[in-house]
Amino acid sequence: MKGLILAGGAGSRLYPLTQVASKQLQPVYDKPMVYYPLTVLIASGIREICLISTPQDLPRFQQLLGDGSQWGVVIEYREQPRPEGIAQAFVIAASFIGQDAVTLILGDNIFFGGDAFPRAFAEFKSGATIFAYHVKDPERYGVVEFDAEGHAVSLEEKPAQPRSNYAVPGVYLYDNDVVGISRALQPSARGELEITDVNKEYLRRGTLRVQRLSRGTAWLDAGTSSSLHEASAYVQTIEKRQGMKLGCPEEAALYRGFLTLEQFEALVGRMPRCEYRDYLTDVAAEVRRVGLIGA
Ligand code: TTP
Repeated sequence: MKGLILAGGAGSRLYPLTQVASKQLQPVYDKPMVYYPLTVLIASGIREICLISTPQDLPRFQQLLGDGSQWGVVIEYREQPRPEGIAQAFVIAASFIGQDAVTLILGDNIFFGGDAFPRAFAEFKSGATIFAYHVKDPERYGVVEFDAEGHAVSLEEKPAQPRSNYAVPGVYLYDNDVVGISRALQPSARGELEITDVNKEYLRRGTLRVQRLSRGTAWLDAGTSSSLHEASAYVQTIEKRQGMKLGCPEEAALYRGFLTLEQFEALVGRMPRCEYRDYLTDVAAEVRRVGLIGA
């Protein structure tokens, strides 16, 4: 399974913050937003990752994330010249995907809690797996309707009259058919290749699995100034209470076995003195003491 992080878009709702740095590079409490989806991929065992962004922002992501070797992964980069839809990611990254299955995660989606993703990645065989999350304002998202047996029966993009409160969050798992399906899509009325149209095609084929995320999972959207602030406050609250960080790729790489403890300690040793380094130093000391118990 390969991983795509889609981190382009205009970020117009975060103006003026996004004039010189894209949305996914903005801080969510103590780290850049893109660290959170990146950590979801690493924690789910994905080692080959491709980040897609705008031609202006791509060099900054490369500066931040490099080739991924510091976390025991490989990160490649591709440009999306214009924001022509989420499903365009599969066309842009076709050569990276090759013959493999692929997961796409949006660069501004923040998740916390539960083990739904690592389980779904481990169980994935074919077709598509997407998720459904109960929200108050489903009309802002792709919305999934279930029948009495819990099977998905319809999908609609930003419906004026949603048929349920279940929105589709920005993590999607597909078999290799997704490349051909995306190539065959026609742009929607708003001029985008819609991810909801990809999912509808899998629904039509009878190979779409929609997994409901339990209420124990937090899904935060950081696309507006107030939701960005709320996401930061949420992360701060959890980190302060638990003494554990969210969205920390170094820690996920250690727990996943992508880095040995020695490699992890060497990486931490190269960081400047800061809270982030202090935290990772404590993680290393705890792992030396009790093993990978917090993983
Ligand atoms: P949106 O939040 O729908 O759009 P945006 O980021 O351009 O923001 P705004 O509406 O404020 O202008 O996008 C969701 C995510 O998908 C976000 O991480 C950006 C990314 N995206 C792309 O990278 N390329 C695209 O073509 C689209 C439509 C979205």
